Amino acid sequence: MTARALSCVLAGVAARPIEVEVDVAGGLPHFAIVGLPGGAVRESKDRVRAALRNAGHPAPERRITVNLAPAHLRKDGAAFDLAIAAALLAADGRLPAPALEGAFVLGELSLDGGLKPLHGVLPMAIAARRAGASRLLLPRSNAAEAALVAGLDAIGLDSLGHAIDVLAGRVAAEPTRLDAAALLRGSRANDVDFSDVRGQAVARRALEIAAAGGHNALLLGPPGSGKTMLARRLPTILPELTLEEALEATAVHSVAGLLGERPLVATRPFRAPHHTASEAALVGGGRLARPGEISLAHRGVLFLDELPEFPVAALEALRQPLEERRIAVSRVSGHHVFPADALVVAAMNPCPCGFLGDPTHLCNCPPGAASRYRQRISGPLLDRLDLHVEVPALAWAELVGPAAGEDSAAIRSRVASARARQRERLGRPGVRCNAHMNGREIDRHCALDAGSERLLETAVERLGLSARAFSRVRKVARTIADLAARESIGAADVAEALQYRVLDRRPT
Ligand SMILES: Nc1ncnc2c1ncn2[C@@H]1O[C@H](COP(=O)(O)OP(=O)(O)O)[C@@H](O)[C@H]1O
Ligand SMILES: [Mg+2]
Ligand SMILES: [Zn+2]
Repeated sequence: MTARALSCVLAGVAARPIEVEVDVAGGLPHFAIVGLPGGAVRESKDRVRAALRNAGHPAPERRITVNLAPAHLRKDGAAFDLAIAAALLAADGRLPAPALEGAFVLGELSLDGGLKPLHGVLPMAIAARRAGASRLLLPRSNAAEAALVAGLDAIGLDSLGHAIDVLAGRVAAEPTRLDAAALLRGSRANDVDFSDVRGQAVARRALEIAAAGGHNALLLGPPGSGKTMLARRLPTILPELTLEEALEATAVHSVAGLLGERPLVATRPFRAPHHTASEAALVGGGRLARPGEISLAHRGVLFLDELPEFPVAALEALRQPLEERRIAVSRVSGHHVFPADALVVAAMNPCPCGFLGDPTHLCNCPPGAASRYRQRISGPLLDRLDLHVEVPALAWAELVGPAAGEDSAAIRSRVASARARQRERLGRPGVRCNAHMNGREIDRHCALDAGSERLLETAVERLGLSARAFSRVRKVARTIADLAARESIGAADVAEALQYRVLDRRPT
C-alpha cells in the first residue's frame, strides 16, 4: 500500500513543498529512500526505524520505499523524519489515510522518539500555507514561530507518539495561537537610547540623516570617543519595524538557527561582526548556504568596527550585496537568494595609534601613517559610505555634565516624517529612501539652484572632492532638505552634506 505526507525543504530564506510518498510491499525487509536525498535524509531511515520502535509503533518487516518529489530538487536536512514516519504508518494501514490530508508535517526525530527543534520554520510554514495547507504539525518548540502565519493551524507536538495519537484522532490537535501584531507592539522597548549619549551634536545629527535617508555612515574618532555607543543606538531611531519587515528578519534568523526562544524578531537587528570574520560569515554561503551577517542585519544595522582591519577581500565581497540589497548564493543544493537590506555604519580610528587630533593624548604615528591608514579603505567601499563623521573625544566637562541628549523617540519621529516624504516622491518598488536613488532619480529629485551648484563646484575643485562624491552629496542634501520638510534643496543643505565627506578631501 502507498501513502503520502507533505513536508518542506529550505531554499535560502524560502521553502518548497516536498511530497513524501511511502510504499510498503511484501518481500525481504528493506528500507530505501529515493529522490535526490542528501546525507542527513539518507540517514533518516535509521532514525525513523529506531524512533518508531521506541514509540511503540515498530516499522513493518517488509519492503519499504520512500520517494521524495519533485525528484530534481536536492533534499537536505532532517526535517522529513516525521513525515516519513507518518506516511509509513499510513501505508502500513495503521493510520487512517485521510489523517494526512491538507496537513504538512515537519520534524527531526531522535532515536527515542523525541522531536528536535528545526531551523527555518517560518519560511516552511509560509510555503505550506501557499500550497493550500490548513494544518502544520511540528515540534512544540517551533509552533509559535509557525503560528505567525495566518490561516494555518500550527499543531505543536511533544514526541512521535504524540504525533501518532493526534493523527489517529485519539488526542485532540491543539493549534498554537499567536497574535503577531500584538507581539510586535509589545516588544518595542529598546534597551539603549540616544538620551544616554552626552554631547556629540555633529555625530547625532549625522546619524539622524543616515536613518532618515538610509545612508551608510563612517564614524572616525579616537578610542573611547563613543563610536560604538552611537552606532548601537542607530536602530532605535530607524522607523518602527513593520510586521512585514519583522517577518522578513525573522525568516533570516530562523534559517540561521538564531531565533532562540523568541518567535519573532521584533526590533531592528544590530549585527557587529568582528574584523576577523570570514568572508562566508559576512556575506553568507558555506556548504549549507547559511545567511551571512549582512543578511542577519536585514532591515537593521550592520556595524563594521575597526573598518581598516577588515581584509580587503571581505570588504570587496560586501560591495555588491550592499548595492543590490540582496545576495545570491550558489550551492549544490541550488541557487539561493538572501535579503541584505541593511544600513551600514563603520567605525575607525583617525590613525593607527588612534589619537590623531585628540586634545589629551599625543599621536605617536610616523609622518604619513594616518593618510596611509585612511587610504586602506579607499575606492569602492568608501564610495558606498555617504556620510563620513568625525567623532572627537569628549572634553571632561561634557562627559560628567548632565546628559542633555534628546531621546530616540523624538529623533525617530522626524526620521519617520522624512521617510514618508521620500516614499511619496520615489514610489518605485524596492526604492524607499534617498540612498537608493539611481542616476536618473538623482537628476530628477536633487535639482540644485545656481548658488548650490557653484558651492558644489568650488568644493570639487578646492577640497579635491572626487566625482563619485558628487552624487553622494546631492543625495544627502536631499535628505537634509527632507528632514526640514523642504521640497527644494538649498545651499545650506549642500554645505552641510559637504561636511560629511571628510575622507574625500585631498590629504594635506
Ligand atoms: N558621548 C558620550 N556620552 C556618554 N558616554 C560616553 C560618550 N562617549 C563615550 N562614552 C562612554 O565611553 C565608553 C566607551 O565608548 P565607546 O562607544 O566604546 O567608544 P569607541 O567605540 O569610540 O571606542 C562608552 O561605553 C560610554 O560609557
Ligand atoms: Mg568601539
Ligand atoms: Zn596616531
